[in-house]
Amino acid sequence: MIRIGAMVSGGGTNLQAVLDAVDAGKIDGKVVTVVSSKEGAYALERAAKHNIPGTVIRKKDYTNGGFEKALIDHFKAMNVDLIILAGYMTILGEEFINAFENKIMNIHPALIPSFCGEGFYGLRVHQAALEKGVKITGATVHFVSPVTDAGPIILQKAVEVMDDDTPEILQKRVMEQAEWVIYPQAVSLFAQGKLQVQGNKVRRL
Ligand code: GRF
Repeated sequence: MIRIGAMVSGGGTNLQAVLDAVDAGKIDGKVVTVVSSKEGAYALERAAKHNIPGTVIRKKDYTNGGFEKALIDHFKAMNVDLIILAGYMTILGEEFINAFENKIMNIHPALIPSFCGEGFYGLRVHQAALEKGVKITGATVHFVSPVTDAGPIILQKAVEVMDDDTPEILQKRVMEQAEWVIYPQAVSLFAQGKLQVQGNKVRRL
């Protein structure tokens, strides 16, 4: 059974999807710590409802450096095997990412390499997809590398775009049809030792 740490900043619906999959016995693991980049994130309440300890670690409290070390120390102390970013809005640096190489996952609400990279977060991703007029978008789970949204891709799922979509409507459909489906699946595959990273690609064993 793997020990999972989660990093959040907001509502935490992806965290909820993983917690539900754990409860349903679909993931051979458990979430042991939830770290939020800000106080009051609803994701912390979701954690509390599952008796999972929540911790707030804010970059702005580390004006003289040490933010990433604090995160590393926390997750090492919690002995985690995997860290999932679930709507985490602070950019992480190489120190942290290299400390957990191929052990940090993220979910992005588009089919990478479309509509990704710096500045593509939240509703902006869906706004960009609608502006381009794509007919298919989706979600991507990937391992986190030092370049934003460029790490090895684990799973992707396509979602149809409708003519009258607004960014909000499209965001909701992508979450329901793709994000909440493939994030728990990716965590489950990791827990079963079925993901092998070769260079910038992931093989499913
Ligand atoms: C999701 O759209 C996810 O793809 C992105 O941030 C959003 C987080 O939503 N990385 P939530 O906090 O999981 O509800």
